[in-house]
Amino acid sequence: MSLLQVIEVSHSYNSKKLFKSKDTSNKVLHNISFSIEEGTCLGLLGTSGAGKSTLGKVILGIQRPQQGQVLFQGYDIYNADKITKSKIRRDLQVVFQDSYSSVNPRMTAERIISEPLENYEKLTLIEKRKTVISLLERVGLNEKDLKKYPNQFSGGQLQRINIARAIALKPKLIVLDESVSSLDMVTQALILELLSELKDDFGLSYLFITHDIKAAFSISDKIGVLEKGELIERYDSKDQFFKSQHPAIKRMRDSILAEHPRDRSINRNSSLT
Ligand SMILES: Nc1ncnc2c1ncn2[C@@H]1O[C@H](COP(=O)(O)OP(=O)(O)OP(=O)(O)O)[C@@H](O)[C@H]1O
Ligand SMILES: [Mg+2]
Repeated sequence: MSLLQVIEVSHSYNSKKLFKSKDTSNKVLHNISFSIEEGTCLGLLGTSGAGKSTLGKVILGIQRPQQGQVLFQGYDIYNADKITKSKIRRDLQVVFQDSYSSVNPRMTAERIISEPLENYEKLTLIEKRKTVISLLERVGLNEKDLKKYPNQFSGGQLQRINIARAIALKPKLIVLDESVSSLDMVTQALILELLSELKDDFGLSYLFITHDIKAAFSISDKIGVLEKGELIERYDSKDQFFKSQHPAIKRMRDSILAEHPRDRSINRNSSLT
């Protein structure tokens, strides 16, 4: 059984029943189906407005779709009983793009990372602190960072705190919505490396949402491409992606610049090889 199954999900934000009947022009998601296996990363590529974050929210249980189902470990996340829903919330975590707005500026790193532990685990103060320190260390920070506030961290460091919070409860699936997009290239590469390590160490699965082809290929086992709310293509390898003749994929490929200006007019895909 797949860890996550998305079955024929459609969604539109316009809920006015009067206009709901035949007009599909405002549909943000059209009949989306795919699955994610345990321990794997599905990269979800798409241009701005394609519906990626909406799909992420549907999977996280934040946005009930108008049609279709989301099954997590076989349970329908919108129709499960209370106990199952609480277990699913624990196993499904998220890291957003903007590391600063994802945290309460008045909380220390220790409190930020402790929050999920307080909600789900009964730990003594000493156990909690030990757990938070080991989480900080796991994401490349340390005990000295416990008492720091968000404004005392760089964007990359704060994203590490967000990742520590997301893995605190040893979840099964993390939705990473443009989680590295606002970081500089070097920091981006380091965070991607960290995410790959954590995936292997904890057997995590990811839905890696991005508009960045290079980032998607560096971490994903499979790639799906969302275009105007439709899952237009799926790939198991980089090769398949680069051979695709789909006009939307061609546009995406053409938008990648080669690393050196000299190569840009001849081979636009060379930056990925
Ligand atoms: N809460 C909302 N209410 C109404 N419309 C919304 C809402 N959230 C998103 N939309 C619309 O749904 C469409 C898809 O938005 P979404 O945020 O899912 O795209 P995205 O692929 O994540 O884009 P980006 O790459 O810019 O983050 C857009 O047209 C957007 O305006
Ligand atoms: Mg988005």
